[in-house]
Amino acid sequence: MKKRGLLPILMLLVMLEPPPTSAFVGQPVRARHGLVASTHEVASRVGVEILQRGGNAVDAAVAVALALAVVHPAAGNLGGGGFMLIRLADGRTTVIDYREMAPARAHRDMYVDEKGEIIPEASTVGHRAVAVPGTVAGLALALEKYGTMSWADVCRPAERLAREGVVLTHAEAESLKRAAQLLSRFPESRRIFLRDGRYYEEGEIFRQPELAETLRRLIEHGPREFYEGETARRILAEMEAGGGVITLDDLRNYRAIEREPLRTTYRGYELITVPPPSSGGVALIEMLHILEGFDLRALGHNSADYVHLLVEAMRRAFADRAQFLGDPDFARIPVKGLTSRRYAEALRQTIDPKRATPSATLSGGDAFAYESEHTTHFTVVDAAGNVVANTYTLNGSYGSGVTVRGAGFLLNNEMDDFTSKPGAPNMFGLLQSEANQIAPRKRPLSAMTPTIVLKDGKPWLALGSPGGPTIINTVLQIILNAIDFGMNLQQALAMPRVHHQWMPDQIVYEPFGLSRDTIEALRARGHAFTERPRYMGDAQAIMIEPETGMRLGASDPRRDGKPVGY
Ligand code: GLY
Repeated sequence: MKKRGLLPILMLLVMLEPPPTSAFVGQPVRARHGLVASTHEVASRVGVEILQRGGNAVDAAVAVALALAVVHPAAGNLGGGGFMLIRLADGRTTVIDYREMAPARAHRDMYVDEKGEIIPEASTVGHRAVAVPGTVAGLALALEKYGTMSWADVCRPAERLAREGVVLTHAEAESLKRAAQLLSRFPESRRIFLRDGRYYEEGEIFRQPELAETLRRLIEHGPREFYEGETARRILAEMEAGGGVITLDDLRNYRAIEREPLRTTYRGYELITVPPPSSGGVALIEMLHILEGFDLRALGHNSADYVHLLVEAMRRAFADRAQFLGDPDFARIPVKGLTSRRYAEALRQTIDPKRATPSATLSGGDAFAYESEHTTHFTVVDAAGNVVANTYTLNGSYGSGVTVRGAGFLLNNEMDDFTSKPGAPNMFGLLQSEANQIAPRKRPLSAMTPTIVLKDGKPWLALGSPGGPTIINTVLQIILNAIDFGMNLQQALAMPRVHHQWMPDQIVYEPFGLSRDTIEALRARGHAFTERPRYMGDAQAIMIEPETGMRLGASDPRRDGKPVGY
């Protein structure tokens, strides 16, 4: 009698138990004052040193971005572009859009032949794939408006790393070897990154004297040097030698732009994220609005019911991405509509809880295999509570493969993020519309999704990830893991992810990520899966613990990153 009476009480206690804070994947790194989470420990340390010298989060972010250009050349860059989301302690928010721009001589059909067929590799490899780099302009704008330190001070750590060299980690040495096929097509890249075929091994010191010299010029003459000085001259010589179309005018005219962030709420939390020309914020908000109508926690994490709803939300948001999104300075983008709750409600009504909606009924398209991808994200929080979430990229790993001769840095292949031909997939298998067709001085559509979440009006979580289109779904799932499932930050990043991008109409999943039963249950509802599972993302996130103000940092266990704090 007594025993039977105890059971309901025990069950009630279990139900009332707060969400778990311990986790089999360990705990986040804790710091009292400031914290940097990036994909390379050396870059995270550079940021913390800036914070300890009295710099704010923006100063540190600029120094980290420049350091990553040295220690993580697959994606850290001077020759690419990205988005920096800033929330200052006084509540001001902004987005620095330093996305690359199409050169003035770019045109709609530059990657198709006379029959209208896509020319293989034209938009992904070599000089013609390169868009006008935005990184140096973006970092300089962020520093000038929101930083406190001088340009020279935040450049110096990167210059030193390039000149003195860094000890190659296992991950970086392997990454260079994996890129051998691309990099060996360009003699300067082969010489610098592959040591002319005598590959670097982990533990060796990797020095980059040409890059150090470029950074020294930037220190001495300021950021415009990149667009107008000796560095610009070297970029133009490289373009001329390899048949690229970037001109001095393109470089001189490049400007980073400040944009209003997008905002919404999700289960009482405020969300701040990036607007077009990234699709990330719009798609993230659309999916959260759809999912807010379901009790996800009750379904169980990564259960068939949960994955079904996630995938149905992803499918719809990515179909809209393909149809509507592009550079807002060139096409009217229905951002308000796509991010409205009424629109999400209407989409929610179209989800059948027991059947997958075939993507083809949402719109047309083709299946396409995935290829490699790369971008990198880092997050910084300082002692005052300023927060920076920055994602930037060369697009593919090591971008176009082209290193600017005598300048030591790689150039992006961001032109591939445009629609080369409506209806034809890009390197991520993404189908895109006319809204994202190539035009002179236009910015290609991105998926980068640096995001900040507020709880009770105060910064609570800041995050982002690389991964091409998987970025958006990685950020979505970490937010759901933290809010809906109450996971600690390390676990929120570690949990297996799924990805669906409308077309190809299949679920990408991670090794050991879904049980066979779950996969079979989803197949029975009409879902298809990629043949082989693969890991996705390299999230870098910081949480501010509301009760203590402690900064908690987590780096994605899928890669090599490390949060460093003080
Ligand atoms: N280049 C990848 C992205 O911007 O989404």
